This record gives sequence, C-alpha cells and structure tokens, in this order.
Amino acid sequence: MKVGIVGGAGRVGSTVCYTLVLLRQADEVYLLDMNAERAKGEAMDVMHTLSAVESDAEVHGGSDYSGLEGCDLVIVTAGAPRKPGMSRLELRGINRSIVCEIAERVARHAPESMLFIVTNPVDVLTYHAWKASGFPSERVFGLGTYLDTVRLRSMLRKELGVGYQEEAYIFGEHGDSMFPVFRLSSSYPRQRLMQVYEEVRTSAMKVISSKGGTWFAPALAIAKVVEALGSGGKCTLSTYLEEHGIYLGYLAEVSMRGVRRAEFELTQEEQEMLQRSAQVVGRAIEE
Ligand code: NAI
Repeated sequence: MKVGIVGGAGRVGSTVCYTLVLLRQADEVYLLDMNAERAKGEAMDVMHTLSAVESDAEVHGGSDYSGLEGCDLVIVTAGAPRKPGMSRLELRGINRSIVCEIAERVARHAPESMLFIVTNPVDVLTYHAWKASGFPSERVFGLGTYLDTVRLRSMLRKELGVGYQEEAYIFGEHGDSMFPVFRLSSSYPRQRLMQVYEEVRTSAMKVISSKGGTWFAPALAIAKVVEALGSGGKCTLSTYLEEHGIYLGYLAEVSMRGVRRAEFELTQEEQEMLQRSAQVVGRAIEE
C-alpha cells in the first residue's frame, strides 16, 4: 500500500510514518509538508530503521504534491494543534481552509485514493474535506472517536480488568459531546464505567497540558485503522451518516472498498446523545 501523509513533518504525521513502517503496514510512504526540509529529514530518519525491521519500504519527504501520485491512502494531519485550555472546535477557523485546500489537491494528484482526516475538529473537517474533494462519501472518513475508543479500552482494562476484546466504544463527536456505548459480556457497576469514561473524555487535555500534544496513541490508532483497511475490520470512525448528512463517530465497516456505517443498534438514550453530537457538529459546519 502506498500511503501519503500531509502534515508528515509534524508530531502526529511523522509518528504515524514511523509506526506504519515498524508494523510493516506500508510499502511506500510519502511525507508531504509545507516544511519540506523537515519532511525530508523525518523520512530519512525512518528509512534508517529499515534493516532492523527487515523491510524494503520506500520513505520519502518533500512539499511536492506529485509525490502523492499512486497513493492508495492519504492521511491528513496538517494544521494547528490544540493548546492547553482550548476546545477542538476552536481550531475550525484556522484548520478549515488548510484541510479544504489539501483535499482539493489530493483529489487532483491521487484521484483514486481514500482520504483519511485526522486534523481537528475532525468531524467538521472530514465533512469539509468530503465536499472539497468531490470524492464519494465512503472514500472520505476521519479518525472520529476511534482514538477515544482505544483510550477507553486501555483504561477499562487497567481500572476494572475488562478484556481488551470486549465491546466498549465511544461514539459521536470527537469532542465534548462524545458518549460511551457499552455492550459488555459481564456486568460492572454503571457508576464505575462512567467514571472511567469521564477520565477518557478529559484525558487528551491532560496529556496536552503535560507534554504539549498527543502523538503516540493517535499514531497507533491510525495504524490500526490502516491495518483494518488492508484486511477488513470495524472501527469507530468519523463516518458519513445519511440521516444527519454529516460525519460523526460511529462503528464502521472498514476496507479499501470504502468506510461505511456498520449495522449497530443504539438504545433510545444513545440515539438522543448521537442527535446532540449531530447538532454540535452541524452547527460548527454551518458557522
Ligand atoms: P504539528 O504542529 O506537530 O504538525 C502539523 C504539521 O502540519 C506541521 O509540520 C506543519 O508544517 C504542517 N502543515 C500546516 N499547514 C500545512 C499545509 N497547508 N500543507 C502542508 N503541511 C502543513 O501538529 P500535530 O501535533 O502533529 O497535530 C496535527 C493535527 O492533528 C492537529 O489539528 C491536532 O489537533 C490533530 N490531532 C487529531 C487527533 C484525533 O484524534 N483526531 C489526535 C491528535 C492530533
């Protein structure tokens, strides 16, 4: 698989490249960034690991969109990250034009690719990238609440000993109106589950306050999505929801044929929470 990463010289983009190469999930990676020199340096640094993982992957960097030609997948991590105290939605003004311009250029240079948005606010920007690219909705998707789901499962395991394969998800906006969806095979006190969820909801900001950003957990979550694209799987991605006309975190069937909402029934209460997320994201798209 040839993967392009736009914003590839940044913390998330370069860590995604490193992770994909270590896990041998890409044959070729092109790191595109407005900082061409740094993109080249990150590519060289990752290339130097190849003998250690016995890989023949090609890794290049630069700021030339022709480097994206032939990409099966383009991941967009370009744009400003949050600062301590900032909500993801506050980034939409600054990141919208960046992501729209990138989506248009990706559509010209890699017209057959799938477009995977990571830049925040991810649900809002996935919608704008879909419009700007002109791609069918199943070829554009966002990281959505998959990272939150990975965090939730990590913390449920640590706090309550819940098995990693148990059905525990986060759906909705990758932001303040996200909500948990538990389908666990044994019963745990609801109050404890909600305490763990509450920790997850605020966990990214704790990391940002301590080290200035998050990139290891996002990069591994992104690599797991790439794995699912290659071999088929299900993840809670920012997926096009026909009845809302926007993208929101929902369990999705993932493959190189496209990302589509999976059959998954929500309770009445969960549907109401999804509706609330749809209102928040819908308003942010219109503004
Ligand atoms: P960063 O500042 O380290 O990297 C951003 C990179 O984008 C920089 O290298 C910059 O030169 C590049 N860039 C900016 N405008 C560009 C353009 N027009 N064309 C090409 N390159 C451009 O930021 P970091 O920490 O890597 O975060 C990137 C984004 O990912 C942020 O919006 C952040 O909020 C988001 N993020 C999303 C997550 C999610 O779960 N959806 C998780 C973690 C981060």
